[in-house]
Amino acid sequence: MLPNIVLVGFMGCGKSSVGRRLAWSTGHRFLDTDELVVKAAGLSIPQIFSQRGEAAFRELESAALTELSGVCGIVLSTGGGAILSEDNRILLRKIGVVAWLDADEDVLFERASRSGRRPLLQTENPRARFDALLADRRSLYSDVSDFRIDSTGLTHDEVAARTREQALRHHRRFVG
Ligand code: S3P
Repeated sequence: MLPNIVLVGFMGCGKSSVGRRLAWSTGHRFLDTDELVVKAAGLSIPQIFSQRGEAAFRELESAALTELSGVCGIVLSTGGGAILSEDNRILLRKIGVVAWLDADEDVLFERASRSGRRPLLQTENPRARFDALLADRRSLYSDVSDFRIDSTGLTHDEVAARTREQALRHHRRFVG
């Protein structure tokens, strides 16, 4: 049976869109840590950041991940910073096969800044912030993931198909 699939990657890499397609094509249930956090807090992500601060958001995010260990049959999309804590990284690898969705920096920035809803990019110089965060995080995405998919120039359906194929290849990490 196909293991759980966990999607990690920077803001704008397409985790939610690809995750929904993957769930549809695998029969797995789609979950998104941002949505779980919003539900638990009763506040939107920008509200959590502005009213309670980033640290409170990270605690809610870790709590959501902790609740998922042992759950089967899911595709889990994670917030771009879910990989920051080592405890979270250990949890993510226990939850499922971990796919890192990546793309060219310019593509990621264009997609990430499109919605204007991402609190970490609400600064005077969003591009500088984006570059700094990405530089800090790349090695963490690489460490936590079983494989990386470069989504530059691919449709969400193509990325979902490649992710599914790779997840099947890495599924032996979960058997015996
Ligand atoms: C964050 C990414 C966001 C969300 C929050 C923090 C981050 O999720 O969890 O705004 O630290 O990179 P997406 O990666 O889905 O945008």
